[in-house]
Amino acid sequence: MAIRQILRMGHPNLRRVAQPVDITHIDSPDMQLLIRDMVDTLADSGGIGLAAPQIDEDLRVAIIEIPGGPTRYGDIEAMPLTVFFNPVIEVLDDQRKGFWEGCLSVPGLRGFVERPQHIRVTYTSTAKQTEILELKGFLATVMQHEFDHLDGRLYVDRITDTTLLAFEDEWLKHNNAT
Ligand code: NI
Repeated sequence: MAIRQILRMGHPNLRRVAQPVDITHIDSPDMQLLIRDMVDTLADSGGIGLAAPQIDEDLRVAIIEIPGGPTRYGDIEAMPLTVFFNPVIEVLDDQRKGFWEGCLSVPGLRGFVERPQHIRVTYTSTAKQTEILELKGFLATVMQHEFDHLDGRLYVDRITDTTLLAFEDEWLKHNNAT
């Protein structure tokens, strides 16, 4: 078990377009170790998603685990721990909705980001199978946030109204009802 250091905004390696994973290497010991480290690091952080570039690994892999139930994002659908290799997003409906996003690489801040709410994700699973998910609402936002990391993008890049960027403690005091 290894909890890895999470790069913070300002580190140039968060801004790279990550390299595709060679699918034949998915079950290699190195890749299995990386996934274990990502799972440990995510569990330690209390977040819901982590992309490999956030722990300074230049690979197109991300993990997401959403406990579900009532949260500050409303009553959301759970998603068991899922590993996404080389995910690709296709927007099925460009109608957007905003959520107050946070990011382990941008600690202490929240920002309101509007994203398409109906997408299709195609990725390779840990079993080396091509999987397709169709997602709506908050889950669609979570996927777009995580997979943006694989292209060197952070949610702050997508904030269109910078008055809706806040320190988390102030946001909790003043904006929690949004
Ligand atoms: Ni993030």
